[in-house]
Amino acid sequence: MSDSLFDFEAEDAKAQHKKLVQQMRKADEAYYNDDAPIIDDAQYDVLRKELEALEHKYPALQTENSPTQTVGAAPAKGFRKVNHAVPMLSLSNVFNREEVEDFIDRVRRFLGLADSEIIEVVAEPKIDGLSCSLRYERGILVQAATRGDGAQGEDITANVKTMSCIPQHLPKDVGVPEILEVRGEIYMSRSAFKALNERQEVHGAKVFANPRNAAAGSVRQLDSAVTAERDLGFFGYALGEISQSFATTQQGVREKLAAWGIPETPYALCDGVDAIMKNYDTLLETRPDLDYEIDGIVYKVNRLDWQERLGFVSRAPRWATAHKFPAEQAITRIHAIDIQVGRTGALTPVARLEPITVGGVVVSNATLHNEDEIERKDIRVGDMVVIQRAGDVIPQVVKVLEDKRKGDEQQFAPLTHCPECGAHAIREEGEAVRRCTGGLTCPKQAVERLKHFVSRLAFDIDGLGDKIIQNFWDDELIKSPADIFTLEARNKESLTPIRNREGWGDLSEKNLLESINNRRKISLNRFIYALGIRQIGEATAKRLARVYGTLDHLREAMIAAQEQGSEAYHDLIAIEDIGPAVAQDLIAFFAEEHNLQVLRDLETHLEIEEYIAPDLGDSAVAGKTIVFTGTLEKTTRAEAKAKAESLGAKVSGSVSKKTDFVVAGEAAGSKLKKAQELGVEVLSEDDWIALVS
Ligand code: IVH
Repeated sequence: MSDSLFDFEAEDAKAQHKKLVQQMRKADEAYYNDDAPIIDDAQYDVLRKELEALEHKYPALQTENSPTQTVGAAPAKGFRKVNHAVPMLSLSNVFNREEVEDFIDRVRRFLGLADSEIIEVVAEPKIDGLSCSLRYERGILVQAATRGDGAQGEDITANVKTMSCIPQHLPKDVGVPEILEVRGEIYMSRSAFKALNERQEVHGAKVFANPRNAAAGSVRQLDSAVTAERDLGFFGYALGEISQSFATTQQGVREKLAAWGIPETPYALCDGVDAIMKNYDTLLETRPDLDYEIDGIVYKVNRLDWQERLGFVSRAPRWATAHKFPAEQAITRIHAIDIQVGRTGALTPVARLEPITVGGVVVSNATLHNEDEIERKDIRVGDMVVIQRAGDVIPQVVKVLEDKRKGDEQQFAPLTHCPECGAHAIREEGEAVRRCTGGLTCPKQAVERLKHFVSRLAFDIDGLGDKIIQNFWDDELIKSPADIFTLEARNKESLTPIRNREGWGDLSEKNLLESINNRRKISLNRFIYALGIRQIGEATAKRLARVYGTLDHLREAMIAAQEQGSEAYHDLIAIEDIGPAVAQDLIAFFAEEHNLQVLRDLETHLEIEEYIAPDLGDSAVAGKTIVFTGTLEKTTRAEAKAKAESLGAKVSGSVSKKTDFVVAGEAAGSKLKKAQELGVEVLSEDDWIALVS
């Protein structure tokens, strides 16, 4: 009879195991999907240890899907990273007929097409989900990845394989290329969303705000068994890497994909702006009847050879754009106006609102942009206002409902001092923003810079979120960027190590230090962006990295450029998108001894990789400086310039000793003459085409 005692214990263990697994799943769900942890890391660790002990004693309880076999408590380890062979891009937006016309005109001008030439456009619904790249090799689904930052996403293969709408094998002998990457959107239908939330509610689990969040939460599940229970859909709409082309138009691509079993949305082929707008009106009307949410329409130039020539600008293709549906609106009250201090000292007024649901999302703040905007719209504390939100953009105040005023509303008085540090708040000539003059003595600015430094497009350090940065700053653990990289060494010596802090444990400490160590090597463009120099966004940082190649070169050039007439200065403002104002901000950054010290400190801890321009192949123009002059006949100036840049060349507006070639079209004038004087190689348009094709 001793067996029965054992059985009793085993039964008990099974029940206990189930309970622990449920608790951990719930915590995972809250942590990973909702970004709203319900227990702290230390409590999570306790659960995990209990579960491990139980499974150690009763190995039969340990399944492949057990939380002990899947993840730790930190997301750093969650999904493997995947480099995209072809970057995953986002889209520019248009909002009305005029902007649609501009889009078509831009395409026409770039390609140098006659007004009579019809530019066919495929109009596809813009699915509100999350983008995913499916990679098929020899017709077999081998990898699925999220977009991530566009260059690197997360490996979600295991989860995607549970989705029955996505074929794991493509049909044979129908011309499927050996390598085929299909890009598309994972979404949750409205009906599946409703059913899921009903189930969640019954189980006391958190309900999702909208289908998009539900889809994202279901895909970013560390346990693919959970994904499998969620009813997810997929629509394909673009290609990534392919080993062989199989169509000449966007329409052709869609038809082939559909024939191979990839789900496709309906679409319209439009031959001009009238047809585009007609389709827009129709879709806007039928939108509520669709079982999936769409937030606009995507227009894509149909001819793939044109798509190829059009190429990309920073993160978006020139051959496509998204026509967004109007923003959703609601009415609520402003109960306060607070000031947010940004990393460059910009003081942005923010309206605190009576919380209200707009398009499925609860909104409690809206940006007011600047004091001129407040004055123009005459926004006062206590006002009833119309607010709107569109997609992921920050909600805005559209207008005040003046007839709802009671008379006790308060006007906003422009700031004289920074509310955080008390330094003077000033507005420079011609600027809309007021700024705190405290610079690095303003704690808020310093903290915002640190947050930017570790953000996704910069150092991308998992586990150093906004709250933790603030907390470490308050406790003087991290006061400057370099402190991040000395954290581990200091922690070793510390009497109050991170793991002993509230909400931390051994595992979360280990994960944090590991994710910091993973970032000791960084690309130059990310590094430049991370510095948070005013007006230097991701695209400009990339251009600077491409032109200067190394941090040393950049620094030397920026110091030399302090002299306005210098060659260094001219080279700087010859870079696309860098005018005198941006140049000034850059130069000012490198003129500040404190900033140079920050750079020196960082350099002792980091390996900053030289910028390698992507997909150069063995291009003859990579790294070369080119000047275009005269009229080009077979291509437009814009196209030639874009082509040169995509091959890693720098296009300059003036000829100097540093120019490698001048491409001279018809009626070239003074630049050609200067090239001849300096002995710079001169190419004809045909030479140029031969060189780059
Ligand atoms: S095309 C180069 N087509 O919208 C191609 N995107 O705002 C870029 N999206 O990241 C994407 N429906 O996640 C394309 N029919 C569609 C789309 C679509 C939804 C998403 C996609 C993209 C985002 C850009």
